Amino acid sequence: MSTATLDAALAQAYAEYTERNPQSLARQNAAATVMPGGNTRTVLYYPPFPLGVARGESCYLWDLDDHRYVDFLGEYTAGIYGHSHPVIRAALEEALTGGLNFGASNSMEVKLAQAVCERFPSIDLVRFTNSGTEANLMALTAARTFTKRGKILVFGGSYHGGVLYFSGGEGSPVNAPYDFVLAPYNDLAATEALLDQHGRDLAAILIEPMVGGGGCIPADREFLAMLREAATRNGTILIFDEVMTSRLSPGGLQAKHGITPDMTTLGKYIGGGMSFGAFGGRTDLMAQFDPSRADALPHAGTFNNNVMTMSAGFVGLTEVYTPAAAIELNARGDALRARLNELCQHHEVPMQFTGLGSMLNVHMTDASLRSPADAAKANQPLRELFFFDMLAAGVWIARRGMINLSLPIGDAECDTFVNAVEYFIQTRGTLLEAHSATV
Ligand SMILES: Cc1ncc(COP(=O)(O)O)c(C=O)c1O
Repeated sequence: MSTATLDAALAQAYAEYTERNPQSLARQNAAATVMPGGNTRTVLYYPPFPLGVARGESCYLWDLDDHRYVDFLGEYTAGIYGHSHPVIRAALEEALTGGLNFGASNSMEVKLAQAVCERFPSIDLVRFTNSGTEANLMALTAARTFTKRGKILVFGGSYHGGVLYFSGGEGSPVNAPYDFVLAPYNDLAATEALLDQHGRDLAAILIEPMVGGGGCIPADREFLAMLREAATRNGTILIFDEVMTSRLSPGGLQAKHGITPDMTTLGKYIGGGMSFGAFGGRTDLMAQFDPSRADALPHAGTFNNNVMTMSAGFVGLTEVYTPAAAIELNARGDALRARLNELCQHHEVPMQFTGLGSMLNVHMTDASLRSPADAAKANQPLRELFFFDMLAAGVWIARRGMINLSLPIGDAECDTFVNAVEYFIQTRGTLLEAHSATV
């Protein structure tokens, strides 16, 4: 294909974006004087400069230049409730009125813990953290101390947090210095071979039952069942990172598959939009943290039982994202994905939307995608162009193509998105066809 044509289209998209967003550019310039690259969360950075968002309401966002977007990103799955949901807001206001930082145990943490234990089959006991990253670090620690082993099996292309980063298919220099064994996602034979080789040295197998950041690629049920069986056989702790996927059924992806890990980590929306993480699982594993025990493992965190988070999380899970709401939202996501894929097939373009339920990801290829490594082979500049075209159409998604539905998104918003995708296919048809010819 003509790379020059695609480059030119991107350059023009950047120029139009720059022209449209002077306030975002000014924000970036000011930020760069006090934060490296003007950034404090790497995923939010992109050239020519990131969009600055001023406010949100329901499923809409407004940027600093007052353009409106339908929020189809949903804060990378944390924003399931939409912006300032009235029930969450009331819970936060009540919490604020009652005082926030007690330096003491409170009742709301019990309520949220009860709701979490009721909801997720693998969680007999739970502890709260401030982020999904921390939750995974603590779950890995629990597995290492329990098994008295050191190695951890993880999968290329996965993301388990800021210091548990395998997105490029391998580890990262910022990773926590665990002894990781990297396996290929969804590759049964290769993973079985690694399990045979390392089985008895493995403290934990840590897996996202659908990779989220890696492109919304679900693991096969047989693959997860094989991991379950191997973990049991080897005395290894199977940890499902459901930080993103817990929303995919009332009891998470584990319930949908009927496969129960030994431990589960949670995060994102479960804190009602506040900073949140949790790790939980089998009683014997979690009992290691029982502080009344003489040999207890400590687990600290000033904000672990933060009243705002506990209050927002509790009403969120029990009054708003109820089991019925989870079923409905995921059905809406499945319907939207089917519509989008029909559109791609109808126009015969090398483009597809992967995922499950309310989580989707666009990929510029029609090849079968079974792993993050497969997804990495798709055309990335075309996806970049898609991102900027969506912005121009008033649709906010992740630059890497991730789309997550929030509860206030309705038929009208889904139509807006489908129309924007169809317009992209029509206006970028030549580029898509040229690309198609090369794959
Ligand atoms: C699967 C998964 N695990 C863990 C994390 C880390 O969560 P946090 O950003 O709250 O540290 C994320 C964040 O995106 C995630 O997607």
